[in-house]
Parts: sequence; structure tokens; C-alpha cells
Amino acid sequence: MEKYIIHGGHPLKGEVVISGAKNAIAAILPATVLADGPCILENVPNISDVHIFTEILKDMGADIQFINKSTLKIDTSGIKVPEVPYEQAKKMRASYYFLGALLGKFNCARVALPGGCDFGVRPIDLHLKGFQSLGAEYTLEYGMINVKTEQLRGNEVCFDGVSVGATINVMLAAVKAKGTTVIENAAKEPHIVDLANFLNSMGANIMGAGTDMIRIKGVDILHGTEYAVIPDQIEAGTYMVAAAATKGDVLVKNVIPKHLESITSKLIKMGVEVTEYDDSVRVKYVGKLERINVKTRPHPGFPTDMQPQMAVLLCLAEGTSVLTEDVWDSRFRYLDELRRMGADVSSVDGHVAIIEGIKSFTGAPVKAVDLRAGAAVVIAGLCAQGTTEVENIYHIERGYENIEEKLRGLGADIKKVVIPDKVMQTAI
Ligand code: UD1
Repeated sequence: MEKYIIHGGHPLKGEVVISGAKNAIAAILPATVLADGPCILENVPNISDVHIFTEILKDMGADIQFINKSTLKIDTSGIKVPEVPYEQAKKMRASYYFLGALLGKFNCARVALPGGCDFGVRPIDLHLKGFQSLGAEYTLEYGMINVKTEQLRGNEVCFDGVSVGATINVMLAAVKAKGTTVIENAAKEPHIVDLANFLNSMGANIMGAGTDMIRIKGVDILHGTEYAVIPDQIEAGTYMVAAAATKGDVLVKNVIPKHLESITSKLIKMGVEVTEYDDSVRVKYVGKLERINVKTRPHPGFPTDMQPQMAVLLCLAEGTSVLTEDVWDSRFRYLDELRRMGADVSSVDGHVAIIEGIKSFTGAPVKAVDLRAGAAVVIAGLCAQGTTEVENIYHIERGYENIEEKLRGLGADIKKVVIPDKVMQTAI
């Protein structure tokens, strides 16, 4: 078992380079199934979710080569059986994107119901309704979702709620359907736009991505392409918050500042100095942090994937802040971990957290309960008095490339240690 040992109290200073976006590559890797030729992907983050995706593709018959550490060449022409078995799908929720991609390519797909971070109930009814609108039928048997059709046909798909995953899955299925698909109430996240740009670079005809109405004219053939993935908005936001929380001064490089606006504006309201450049932002602590209220919303609102990291910063503000989770039903499980570190937080009905400012965190043994919750306890550890030990760091490594090296480069005292399982058992 691995864990991070963090000795807190060092302000983060210097420069950090942001990697490619986890949630964009999570859609783009399955989308390569649709190409009739090889795809070269640049700015691919070196995170465990990418390793899982490439293993799934390889097991299906794809040929994948690493041209360098962030560039992949993928040839999916060897994929003949449109199926992702449970053993692989359970490792990652976004494996359900193979449903849309395989359906788009083969008119049928068989994918096990996914796993992923536990934020309460995570239905996929909107995905399945979307496939039905395009003329596909689905059945569920022994934990596998089967979708199939004679021929996908473009149609109007109007979602009852805004869903990133359903929007992406319908895009993947519709891109080669006969006729035009119009997705209404589409999600507008940066990775939706990135997927559309990737598919268009393969010869697709998608317009309107980034607005709530996406129009897709089906095409017969999608060719191979060369494409660079956008920088990770949430990784960038995490370092921005870490800079402010540790009273530091960090230049966050390789970002699209427009994607960070909702985070930037909250930091500025709290009294943090944020300067935007063309492809970087500088975040500087300049004095006491003001209390604010934060509510998560679909893009361009404040991202739910920054909610736990923001909670840490709100703990360090003067006064009472209210943090509302409006996207997921259950995303406050990590508050118990922050309480272990001295946070004064109460949660009302699972959607609202009332956060009273504290002088500082104190180090404690804690665990990463999921990916972003893991980032939050790391940030708390960086500004805590004393030593913090973070367990279950595999959650964090799903989405943050080289987090301890990047933090050490900014002056943090963090190291990863391997604890033999036997020692862990004795300790328990
Ligand atoms: C994606 C992100 C995740 C992020 C989330 C919201 C990826 C790989 N993951 O997850 O990090 O937290 O967007 O920004 O990109 N819903 C339904 N029915 C459905 C689908 C969703 O009711 O069929 C509900 C969900 O329960 C949730 C809300 O819609 O309350 C948003 O979910 P969605 O946008 O689909 O999230 P994901 O795509 O799973």
C-alpha cells in the first residue's frame, strides 16, 4: 500500500505545468474506435485512468504505441468484437463511453455497468434514452448493457437534466448516424468542446459544442487524425487553490484561462490575487481570506470537481461560508477527513456544508475517499501544522499526473512511501 507523507507549512512558490485533461481524454480514447485510420494524440496525461483505457483498447484488439511520454499512436482497426467485460469496466466509470463509440462504429455494443467515484446514485438513464432516440434498443443482462440497432438514425435528443456523460455518449453514437441529430440541453463543459473538435478533425460534422444545442450531421467515414488534448481545468484549479491555501505565489502554466473563470472569480472574491496571461495564471496570496458562498453548477458554473478543494480554502477564510453541492447527491463524505484535521464543518441534508473559518489545519492520518476529495486532503496537509499521512492515494493518481513531484517542485514537503501490507495489517 502506498501513501503520501506531508509535512505542512511550506507556502507553494514557483511554476507548475498542467497536464492534458483527464475528462477530455476519457472521451477521446474511446472515440478513436470510430476512426478508420490511426490517431496520434498529444498532451495525454500520464494518469492511471489513461492506463486503464489503453488496456481496455488493447484487450479489444487495438494497437497502441507511446511515441513519447505524452503522445500516443492508436490504431483501432484490429477491434472486431464490440464488448468491454466487467473486469475492466468496473475499474472506471467512463468506460461507458465505449457504449456510444462501439454503437457508432458497429451498430451494437456490450459493456458492463461501470464503477467509478462514489458520489451516491449515478444513473445512466439519460445515456440510454439518447441511444433509443437514435433508434437503438437496449437490454440489461447479468450486469452487461447491450445496445443495438440495424441503423442509427439522427433525431432530436432532448435531455431532462444536464449530463456530461450522456451528451458525450450521444455525440459518439450520432457522429456516423444517418441524418442529423440535435442534442438539446447539452452539457457545455470544455471537454465536450474538445471531443467535438477531435471528432471534427476526423471528418465529423458537429456544430454548437459548448452551447446547450449541439447539431451533428452524420458522416459515413471518419479518418485517423493528429490531435492535442486540452489542458486539465480541474488540475489547474487544484493548484490554484493549493497556492492560495498555503499562502503561496504560483504561476500555473499550460492552461486555458477562460476555462478557469468560475474558479478565478471565487478566488478573487476571497481576496486572492489572480493574474491571467495567454496560457497561464498566477495565483498569489496577499492577505486574509474572505468568507464566500459557493454553489456547484454545470459549466460555466463552479465545477463540482473543485468542490472539495474549495472547501479546504473556505475552512481557512474568516467567518462562515456556505458550500452547496448542486450536481451530485452525495459528495461530502470527505468532510469527516477534514474534521480529523481540525475543520469546523457541518453538513445539512448532504447538499449544503456550513464551514466556519479556522486558524489552521493540524496534521492527521486521513484517507482519500475519492479523486477530488483526495486532492482536498493533500491541500489541507500542505497547509497543516505537523504531519499528514494520506491513504488510498490510488484515487488521486487516477487524475493527477506526478502530483508529488509537481508539488515538491513548488517547495512542498511531500513524499510517497510504500507500506508493506503486513505492516498495515499489524497496525490495524
Ligand atoms: C462527469 C465527470 C465528473 C463530473 C461530472 C459533473 C467525466 C469522466 N466525469 O461525470 O468528473 O463530476 O461530469 O461535472 O467526465 N444523471 C442522471 N442520469 C444520467 C446521467 C446523469 O440523472 O443518465 C445525473 C447524475 O446523477 C448527476 C448529474 O446528472 O446528478 C450530472 O451527472 P453527469 O454530468 O452525467 O456526470 P458524469 O458524466 O458521470
